[in-house]
This record gives sequence, C-alpha cells and structure tokens, in this order.
Amino acid sequence: MSFTVQPAGPARPSRCQLFGPGSRPALFPKMASSAADVVSIDLEDSVAPADKPAAREAAIEAINGIDWGTKALSVRINGLDTEWWHQDVTQLIERTNGRLDLIMIPKAGNGKDVYAVDAVVSAAEAASRKTKRIGLEVIIETAAGAQNVDEIAAASPRLQSMSFGVADYAASMGMTVTGIGGTQDDYYMLSNAEPRTATPVDPWHYPITRMVAACRQHGILPLDGPFGDFSDPEGFLAQARRSATLGCVGKWAIHPNQIALANEVFTPPAEKVERARRILAAMEAAEASGQGAAVLDGKLIDIASCRQARVIVSMAELIEAAG
Ligand code: COA
Ligand code: MG
Repeated sequence: MSFTVQPAGPARPSRCQLFGPGSRPALFPKMASSAADVVSIDLEDSVAPADKPAAREAAIEAINGIDWGTKALSVRINGLDTEWWHQDVTQLIERTNGRLDLIMIPKAGNGKDVYAVDAVVSAAEAASRKTKRIGLEVIIETAAGAQNVDEIAAASPRLQSMSFGVADYAASMGMTVTGIGGTQDDYYMLSNAEPRTATPVDPWHYPITRMVAACRQHGILPLDGPFGDFSDPEGFLAQARRSATLGCVGKWAIHPNQIALANEVFTPPAEKVERARRILAAMEAAEASGQGAAVLDGKLIDIASCRQARVIVSMAELIEAAG
C-alpha cells in the first residue's frame, strides 16, 4: 500500500438514484415511496426556463412536506452559467427544514465550480443557523469535467458522489450520437477473418473508468447516470452491468421501470457474496497456517483476493444494514 491510504466512501447504499422533474410535483410522492435509495428532484434540464421559479418552489414545499423515509434526498440545481443556480442553493437551504441531504451540481467543469457552490452552501447554512451539513454531488458530463475530474474530486470535503452524464458528455465531445447512452451501432471492431463480423464496443468505458478512479482516490461514490430508453430493460441491464463491473455503486433511473433493474444489478447476488465469504474464510485458514496464498475451487487466492472479496461482502452488509 501507499503511505496514503484510500479513504472509504460514504456508507450508504446508492444503487438507484431516481430523478423527477421539479415541474412535475405529482411525481414526488411516487418517488418518495419508490424502491430507489436516492431520489433527486431536478431543477435543471428537465425543467423549461419559464418553469424554473415554480419548480424551485415545488421542490422546497416537497422537501418540507413529504415523508421521504430513509432515502437520501437530493436536488439537482441549475448550471453555474445560469441566473438560477445561486437562488436554487440559498433558497433550498434557508427555506427547508433540514431534510435535504444533497445538492447536485450539473456539468461541473473544474474544482472551482465545486468550491463556489461549497462557499454559497456554507454561507447559507450559517445564515439560517443550520447544523446539518449538506453534501454535494457532481455530474461529469462535459469535456472539461472529464479532463479535470481529479481536481473536481479533490475540491470539497462535502463531495459525496459523482455521476457520469452520458448525453451532455456526448454533446460536449462532439460525438455523432443521439439517444441517452447504451450501445452505439457505429462504434465497433470488425473482424479481419471472413465472414467479417462487427463487435460493438463501449464508447463510455474510458470516461467512466477515469471517473471511478478519481472517486476511489478521494472516497467518493461513483455512479453511472441516465439510460434514456426506458422501454429497453435489456439495454439498461447491459449498461448497468458494465458500470458495476468497472466499480460504479449505482445507476440513475429516469423512469420507475428502471428502479428494480438498477437494484438488481447493484445488489451483489447471493452466490457472489457466498463465494466472497468462502474466499475470506479460506484465506483466514491459510494465514493461520502461515500461508499468504491458497487454492479455492482449483484457483489461486491470495491477500489481494481478500481485498476483492471484502468489496462484495462490505457492499452486501451495507445494503442489509440499510434495510
Ligand atoms: N418518478 C416516479 N414516478 C414516475 C416517474 C418518475 N421519474 N416517471 C413516471 N412516473 C410514474 C407516472 O406518474 C405513472 O404513474 P401512474 O401509473 O400512477 O399513473 C407511471 O410512472 C408510468 O409513467 P409513464 O406514463 O410511463 O411516464 P410519463 O409519460 O408520465 O413520463 C418521463 C415519462 C420520461 C417524461 C418521466 O418518467 C420523467 O420525467 N422522468 C424523469 C426525467 C428527469 O428527471 N430527467 C432529469 C435527469 S436525466
Ligand atoms: Mg445533463
């Protein structure tokens, strides 16, 4: 290990983060009673400019008035290049009752964006004598955000999660794709051997992996963002499984159809947990007899296998403890 120890992330499950537009308050009670671990009221891109003030009011009323149970409750504010974001932050903090947990910053481009929001949050908390400290979330969804992901991750002790936002990222990068995420037909490898077959590859692999590394270095939860086609459960599952394999702890849902799918992928299955527990037990026995490596089911396991196994077991325990 390095002398700098990797910090643990926030100890809360974040398997599914469900979004609903702030301009559709009828959805809020449904979000509150859903099976998502985190719910986010959106004030940004799902709300038309003319509806921004009303959506902010509706969000404030809902935070104060609805029973959100044990969910992490988040609001996505408007971008830092708009006239709305500052009042989003101050009003959300000063006029709510302490139930709000997280403020999400869209299109974070550098560490200064996070620093600026932290400063306004801190002043608003002080002005309204709040003792609870709001956490921050960012979306990595621009070329600048992807380039500066390390300084963004290091920008504030309030930062709890990062999400990869696929549609804005594609637009910012000038990618020739439409749709929100998933497999892109024009991005494939072609076999040299006849018959020449096309194998789709993952255009989101690089930025997600970079984001996960920045998150893990700084003890932040990495999440995969939206998948737009809510009528394609197989496509959603495939994307979610790729993200989980790369280290993400959860994925957004933009429709109730997607909640159970995200929960399924990001809850370690019983067989994986059982195998992880057997690895830990086998290594404990090996260590007790002075061995640093052992064989389980015909495969090498060693002390690194224990670290891998603990990722799965810890996640299962966290989800169980959260009920
Ligand atoms: N959260 C909770 N419930 C939702 C929901 C959401 N995000 N979206 C839809 N529902 C409810 C509907 O109210 C409806 O409930 P009912 O059966 O009690 O009538 C049911 O789920 C089925 O909804 P459906 O008719 O299929 O969807 P819709 O046409 O009303 O809305 C969307 C579709 C995509 C516009 C809507 O889901 C939505 O706005 N999603 C979130 C978008 C967002 O927040 N984007 C920002 C982040 S990318
Ligand atoms: Mg976006």
